[in-house]
Order: sequence, then C-alpha cells, then structure tokens
Amino acid sequence: MMMMMMTSSYSSRITILQLAARRRGPEQLFLDQHQQHQQPHPQCRYYHRTCHRRQNRSVVTSTSSIITGRLKSYVLDRAVRHDSPLWQQQQPPQPQQPPRLNGDDHDQSGGVGSIGGAIDIDDDNNESDVDEPTTTAHLWDPLDDLDVSHRATRYWPHLPRGIGMAHHHANGGSSSTSSTTIDPFVLCADELSTLSDSIRNDLLGTDHPVLHQAASYFFKATDDATGGKKFRPLLVHLMAKALAQAAASTGPQHRDDDGQTYGTNTVTSLPKNRQRRIARLAEIAELIHTASLFHDDVIDQADTRRGVPAVHQVFGDKMAILAGDYLLARASMALARLRNVAVVETMSTIIEHLVRGEVMQMKGSVSGSDNNNSNHHNNTTTSTKNMRLDYYLRKNFYKTGSLMAHSCKSAALLMGGSSPNNNSNNNIDPAWIDIAYRYGKHVGMAFQLVDDILDYEGTLSHMGKAALSDLNSGVATAPVLFAAEEYPDQLWPMIDRKFRHDGDVEHALSLVHASAGMDRTRHLARVHAEIAMDAILELSPDETDPRRTLYRDSMVQLAYKVVARTK
Ligand code: FPP
Ligand code: MG
Repeated sequence: MMMMMMTSSYSSRITILQLAARRRGPEQLFLDQHQQHQQPHPQCRYYHRTCHRRQNRSVVTSTSSIITGRLKSYVLDRAVRHDSPLWQQQQPPQPQQPPRLNGDDHDQSGGVGSIGGAIDIDDDNNESDVDEPTTTAHLWDPLDDLDVSHRATRYWPHLPRGIGMAHHHANGGSSSTSSTTIDPFVLCADELSTLSDSIRNDLLGTDHPVLHQAASYFFKATDDATGGKKFRPLLVHLMAKALAQAAASTGPQHRDDDGQTYGTNTVTSLPKNRQRRIARLAEIAELIHTASLFHDDVIDQADTRRGVPAVHQVFGDKMAILAGDYLLARASMALARLRNVAVVETMSTIIEHLVRGEVMQMKGSVSGSDNNNSNHHNNTTTSTKNMRLDYYLRKNFYKTGSLMAHSCKSAALLMGGSSPNNNSNNNIDPAWIDIAYRYGKHVGMAFQLVDDILDYEGTLSHMGKAALSDLNSGVATAPVLFAAEEYPDQLWPMIDRKFRHDGDVEHALSLVHASAGMDRTRHLARVHAEIAMDAILELSPDETDPRRTLYRDSMVQLAYKVVARTK
C-alpha cells in the first residue's frame, strides 16, 4: 500500500514539478502588474489573467494534487503523531548560577520567561555562555492557565469598577473625568500613523525593486486598510506609557539612561531616546507579524489578505517567502541595535513560537485514532477531549499569544528604570515585567479565540480574508471542539478526518450553530480578556485618580475591545 502510494506520488510529483516550471512564466509579469497598479486589484486584468490560468491549471492538476496532498498528510500525520519531548510542556529551567548582568545599562533580568543569565558579552574567557540552554530558557511558562472555560466572568458586560471614567483630550494631552470611554487607538494615533512610513523608510531599504515592493506590500505610503490594525505596535506603545505613568504616579522621578529625568503623570516627558527605542520595538513586532503572514498565506494558499490579493498571489510563492525572510532579517538587525540582550532573547522566542504554532496547526490535534480503536469516536475519552482543547489552546498561545506576551514584556524591559520598587536606575521591578507578559499573553489568547469565532461568522468583504477557512482547511478550533461535546458521534469523526468528506464542512457548521460552541468560545475569550484586565490593574492597584491611570485604564478598555470586535 505504502509502495503504491509512494509510486503514484512520485509520478504525480514529476507532473506537478513540470507544470510548476511551465506555469511560473516571467517574473516580469508580476513586476509589471505591481508597477502599474501599486495595489493590485481584483479588477486588474493581470490579476484576472493569473486567476484564470490558475483555474485551468487546477483542473489539470486536481487528481495529482489530491494524491500528493493525501500522501503528504499521511506522512506528516505519522511523523508527528507524538510531539517530540522538546515540544511537550517544559519545566522551568534550573538556573545553574544566578542571573548575571554585564554592566551594560540596557541589560535587565527577571520576570516571566526571563533569560537564566544574560550572555556576558564582555567576558572572553567564559566560553560556556554560548552553551546556555536557550532551548529551555524561554519555555518555562508552563501554560497551565489557558483552559479557563469553567471560570465565570467577573465583570462582563461591565468593566472593572472605576474604569472608563477618564477622557483623553487629543489636542492638549491632558485628561479629565467624564463618562467617555478611552480609545486606546486614539491615545496612540500619532505613534501608529508614522509606523508604516518609519518601517518602509528606515527598515526596509533595499535596492532590489521586486524585493522592496514585496516586502513593503503592507507598509504603504498611503496608510489604508492594507496596513492592518497595528494591534501589536499599539500594545507596545500603550504598555510603555502605562508603565511610565505608573512609575510617575507612584514613585519618585526616574533617571533615564541618557541622564534625563521623567516622572510626571503623562509620558510626554519620556526622554526622546527611550521613545525612539519603544517605537523601534513596536516596528519590530509588526515586522515579525507581517513576515509570519507572508509565510502563512503561502502555506494556506490564501487568496486574500486585508482585502487585497495575498502577497504570494502577486509576487509568487518564492518571492513571498523570501520577502518574509527579508522582513525577519531586518527585524533581527533592528533588534540587535536596541543593544539589550534580554530583549533580543525575548523577541527571538516569538519566532520559534510562531513556527511551533504553525506546525501544531498543520499537525491537526491529538487524534482520536490514537486510542487504537476503529470505533474511536464513541470511545473518545474525556481526557482525549481535554487534550484536544489543551492542544488547541497551546497552539493559539504559540501562534498569537506569544508575540503579544513577549512584545509587552520587551516593552517593560526597555522601560527598565521606571519601577519605584527598585533602587537601581537600570532595573525594572520583575513584578512589572510579569504583569506586562501576563497582559499580552491573555489579550493574545482572547484575540485568537475571537479570530476563530469570526472565521465562522465573518464574510470575505468584512474581514478582508476568506471566511470558514479553518473548517475548509481541516482545522478544528474552539467552536467546533465545544460543539463536539454536544454532538460527539457526528463531530469527532469529522474532526479526525479533517472535514475531508463531501458535506463535512456544511454539516459541521450546522452543528456548531445548533450547539453552544460559539457562546462557549466567546465566554472563554471574555475570561482571558478579564485576566488581562486584572493583570494590568496590578500596575497601580491603589490609584483612584483616573488622570493618573489613563494608559493603564485604556489597556483595560483595549482588552474589552478585543472581545467585542467584529473584524
Ligand atoms: C495565521 O494563522 C498565522 C500565524 C498567526 C502564524 C504563522 C507562522 C508561520 C507561518 C511560521 C513562520 C514564522 C515567521 C516569523 C516567518 P491562520 O492561518 O489560522 O489565520 P489567518 O486566517 O489569518 O490566515
Ligand atoms: Mg492562514
């Protein structure tokens, strides 16, 4: 059987490779298209021609693709059925020696996922630095707080007491009490409006026209919907401002690394140098995110992203992958230039986690067939069900939560020196780093859960990307996992076969809507959002003057908005 599959796969591979070689045509076509139409539009004739050719091709290659696809998923399924030990939940690393700082005033240590001793770049004699267990240093978050589906919400549909009373006056930067809610996007409008320009001009300079155009596909001069929500940069800016404000309102003035003091109840006095470093961190987070989307859209063979053709539809798969690599390369260089080892390690962790999350998604989930029982769906045990949800939630952390958690943590690390509970100007209270990490992590979890709801509810025109893509690509997310608890006989087998049979997607969809799957997913998202709210409120727990907690409170609002969003 295996031999037969291998033989047919070999011949179909040749056909596919031959077709692929013929199909690509001159890269010039894609370049012409992009030069003529800065933003390729579905009405563009080149776009149509490409789509038309693609449709014809798909008829020719459909049989081969099905065989190759089945073989690939068979092999992948076998190969990754059991997570390798490294990918299991890890214990915290046992530090062999206390964390060291190298005297560089940018280096800090401590807090969630902190490096177990920053590399001492000045110590030439200590060769063991490079052997430090970087594979475990950042894995010590046990991720045992992801399934909070059985907790009740604490505030919903309200906000925690006292939040929502401050109103920001965009022109004067001052604040007063009013019942208007605080819009976090308005608070950071200036920072976000210059982000794409700054990335394009400062970070993406290359003299190769195609690479430049592909890489800056989502960083246009005219900042439109293709620029995305800029949610990750917003988190970085707000976190920095919230920390600075908390330090200002609860402690004495602090001295920045360039000798200036700051510490009023707004962050306008934050030294320029620190503001620039925070802005750069926000850009790095967006670059990493965008790189992952370029790659993801190739993997998923997505047609559309942010309402326009996905980057690989315009430039081809190879160029999209290389453009993603290029974004990562530029992000790495910018990261190194922050000259902060802890931030470098923290942000690098994100890249590993994104890859891990993507592979977990490709693998699917803990298979019911692991029970070694042909009639396994009737016997799907509670522990297998829990493992599926647990697996899904860990995957969500890796593909979404980690970027937000580690970006927030890095913002806190860069704000080192702003904690009132620390005598040193160079260190930040580890509790604040922990707060930043927890906030980002749980907002990220809520964000992805809502994304998974919107995949069921949204439309292409509203979302800018195809709806129902999860079911169509065989991915079981929270709505269907919860629904399967109500309709186990129907849904577990469909989940196991990745909704491959004719009618599976429609059937699963109707069962999800007939069940409490969507409501339970929304509930889980709310609980995560509230955990994030509680985390950020720890920043200045006793502060009751809303003018002195403007940014902290706007982050509470942001967590609320994440769950309430419709796109
Ligand atoms: C979107 O998921 C995908 C991600 C959030 C992460 C993708 C990560 C990789 C491709 C690994 C490589 C990483 C880098 C940094 C190059 P989705 O497909 O579920 O959501 P969608 O509907 O938005 O596509
Ligand atoms: Mg995708």
